[in-house]
Amino acid sequence: MLIKRREGWEIPESQVTSETAYLGRRNFLKTIGMGGLIAGSGILSASGNVRAAVADPSEALYPVPRNNAYEGGRMMTPEEISTTYNNFYEFGSHKNISKAAQALKIRPWTVKIDGMVDNEMEIGIDDLLARMPLEERVYRHRCVEAWSMVVPWSGFALKELVKLASPTSKAKYLVMQTFEDKSVASGQKQFWYPWPYTEALTIEEATNDLAFMVTGMYGKPVPKQNGAPLRLAVPWKYGFKQIKSIVRFSFTEERPKTFWEELNDKEYGFWANVNPGVPHPRWRQDTERDIGTGKRIPTEIYNGYGEAVAHLYKDLRQKDRPFM
Ligand code: MTE
Repeated sequence: MLIKRREGWEIPESQVTSETAYLGRRNFLKTIGMGGLIAGSGILSASGNVRAAVADPSEALYPVPRNNAYEGGRMMTPEEISTTYNNFYEFGSHKNISKAAQALKIRPWTVKIDGMVDNEMEIGIDDLLARMPLEERVYRHRCVEAWSMVVPWSGFALKELVKLASPTSKAKYLVMQTFEDKSVASGQKQFWYPWPYTEALTIEEATNDLAFMVTGMYGKPVPKQNGAPLRLAVPWKYGFKQIKSIVRFSFTEERPKTFWEELNDKEYGFWANVNPGVPHPRWRQDTERDIGTGKRIPTEIYNGYGEAVAHLYKDLRQKDRPFM
């Protein structure tokens, strides 16, 4: 979002994989008889998605029951689009990282919980999944680059993980970190980025009902390019807060510098709450392009989730930049 001169949202439409172009490519593969061949290698699934070559041991857990309290409010984004138009800088600073991300090994996957907690632990992802109440929620997902999608995530409320950790009264922040491994994530060879990708929420945000740990998508395990095996969804905030492929949760008293804040705090702040009335220093935020329909639609404050979260920010002053 920072280093490249041209922003993702400015990419000419011709470079973005539209559904039509995508389907065109599938038809082409079918015509030349390659579809089955590639699907057989595990790179493309029968539905055309880029998915893991090795079966995911959590596959049998899905689909999980939908929690109807959380609806997207508009057309769900086709899976073929939301799983092939991604931001995951560990695998490249462009949208077409879905193939490169397949290099990530997601088993074994150990999650560390540490810091100001009663229950420090290292827990394997499948043990964690077994202890958490899984459900499906349909959320809107708004990127700071002014595109958006609507996704059926599966996973569990982040407050369940906070409960498991049992933070002490001193803990004010929950800091999350992505894996670090240059041998699979070539983006991490770019030394000017402050790896590992780090994000954080206040404890009040992390225990808000809306904060969700994603482990699945479209009734299946979440694909690597979307942050397998564990990523965050906080739909009232810009997408860069929604850290992928998390390996560590630390409870701290101090607010950490987050990945994008460290790179450019004037453009990507800590709070990052969606607000159509507060432009990014280099572009407007009052509308967004729905990547499913291609239509430009108005952006809503807190991405339409204000009723659930606006109270969290009532004591922030303008100089705290709650919307930046
Ligand atoms: N997490 C990590 N580890 N690395 C990243 O580059 N990009 C963020 C966020 N989480 C990113 C990340 C940004 S900018 C966005 S918009 C969302 O992931 C994109 O999520 P999606 O690809 O599932 O739509």
